[in-house]
Amino acid sequence: MAVDTAKKIGNQAIVASGLTKSFGEGETKVTAVKGVAFSAQFGEMLYIVGPSGSGKTTLLSMISGILRPTSGTVTVKGADIWTQNTDQLADFRLHTIGFVFQDYHLFPRLTAAENVAIPLLLQDRDWNESIAAANKYLEIVGLKGRGETLPVKLSGGEQQRVAIARAIVSGPEILIFDEPTASLDGDTGKMIISFVKTKILNSKRSILIVTHDARINEYADRIIHMEDGRITGLDKGTE
Ligand SMILES: Nc1ncnc2c1ncn2[C@@H]1O[C@H](COP(=O)(O)OP(=O)(O)O)[C@@H](O)[C@H]1O
Ligand SMILES: [Mg+2]
Repeated sequence: MAVDTAKKIGNQAIVASGLTKSFGEGETKVTAVKGVAFSAQFGEMLYIVGPSGSGKTTLLSMISGILRPTSGTVTVKGADIWTQNTDQLADFRLHTIGFVFQDYHLFPRLTAAENVAIPLLLQDRDWNESIAAANKYLEIVGLKGRGETLPVKLSGGEQQRVAIARAIVSGPEILIFDEPTASLDGDTGKMIISFVKTKILNSKRSILIVTHDARINEYADRIIHMEDGRITGLDKGTE
């Protein structure tokens, strides 16, 4: 059994155990996540699906080192992240995790390339080198030559590609998408997720997608269902 366990940990990107988060005290106390346990493997695209208010964003925030759990543990690549100090956690967020949000979160006054370069600039990398790397990643997401364009001149799907380039530019192994297709029309949403699955996912990456969008279910390797802070089921996905 020890050998089996060691083998499993070898491919485990994230292990969450007994994860619980409460907000407030007394009568106003809300427990958003209630004893959630799951693991995400390298090489897989794992979805977390559930109605609004079921605790999905709270769960992602605890996994990504943004929100300290009330109880439970998050182990990423074998390390218990919430035992780390503030500097170690900041380092973890910068180097290990890449985030993509529903509304892209691009800076409107920065060009596409400058937006993508932000994680590198935060790592004190040289400006020209960072912009060159950003342009290379824009090419990877299908936006070659658009580096000097401002976000307002890009379509929703193109802005989401810029956000994806920014999430992967510093090479994080874990990518977290919170409702990435919610602001896109159905075809564009499917194109983006199909692109992520074929071009961004690889055996050294783990991708977690929180979604309401059943049109993209076909790309999931596994689907975790959440309701009222708890995991209520697990599907294998349809591919
Ligand atoms: N910072 C907070 N303070 C108080 N309540 C919160 C906070 N964040 C989330 N909640 C509550 O926790 C529950 C789960 O929210 P959330 O994780 O955002 O759900 P989802 O992403 O599935 O829509 C909701 O009832 C929400 O109001
Ligand atoms: Mg949410």
